[in-house]
Amino acid sequence: MQTFAQPVIQRQGNVFVTNKEELRWVDASRPGLRLAAAHENRDTGRFLGLLGFDPLSSSGLHQHVDVAFSYVLSGGLTDYAGTTVAGQMGINMPGSTHDAIAYMPSLLASRLDGPVLYWPDPTREDAPHLHAGGRDARFTNPKPEESPDVSITVMGIQPFPCSVGGVMRRLICDYSGTRHDYRNSALTMIPGTRVPAFCTVAPIEIFMIGGGAKINGQLVLGGGFCVIEAGTQVELSSDFGAYVIAWSEAPVEWLDAKHTDLFGF
Ligand SMILES: [Fe+2]
Repeated sequence: MQTFAQPVIQRQGNVFVTNKEELRWVDASRPGLRLAAAHENRDTGRFLGLLGFDPLSSSGLHQHVDVAFSYVLSGGLTDYAGTTVAGQMGINMPGSTHDAIAYMPSLLASRLDGPVLYWPDPTREDAPHLHAGGRDARFTNPKPEESPDVSITVMGIQPFPCSVGGVMRRLICDYSGTRHDYRNSALTMIPGTRVPAFCTVAPIEIFMIGGGAKINGQLVLGGGFCVIEAGTQVELSSDFGAYVIAWSEAPVEWLDAKHTDLFGF
């Protein structure tokens, strides 16, 4: 059994692309769970990548210290508050405390902003927790009256036409109620879209749900990830259409155009 994730990343400038063929799956510490990181930091708990669940596999009881996003690609995850299904973004706010089980084979695109606490389990295998930066601790639920998940059907959000031609944005989460001022949005780019050049002042993370786009000459296709570092000049285009979810940590700076922010600041 493999026990540790070593993401495979192609570097070109400050844009890191990990297409699905380059993801390396590793088993997590409970049966039937696995993860494939595009980017992870086990000290800070930051993670971007895929999570996989076999039927009847469960995460184990855990508490989110920071915000967690799970876009369900197939199957679904169930906890005491209900089920998050394919096409939905499940958001766990800080303090969310639950044990999630899959009844179908399930695949999630996951982004974590920080660590996760796991109730100590002496039987767990010597392998990474499902969540990067997972650490053992005992806890209580600090907000028992609140649901541990917010489940949002992304295509059910009213799209907002951007001032950039060909781009529609669905704002999924503005991080209100957290310590971050970030944005999580879904963008749809029609075929032939050319986004004017912009600079990032903070990281942007992307998961390509469907279609594909070129980011500084690198092609990101469905099932792939892209991390754009702060201070990067970005050329973004899609010849044949793209449907992406993105996490942006600050408004972008347009180089030679006046546009509203691409990600909803
Ligand atoms: Fe969770």
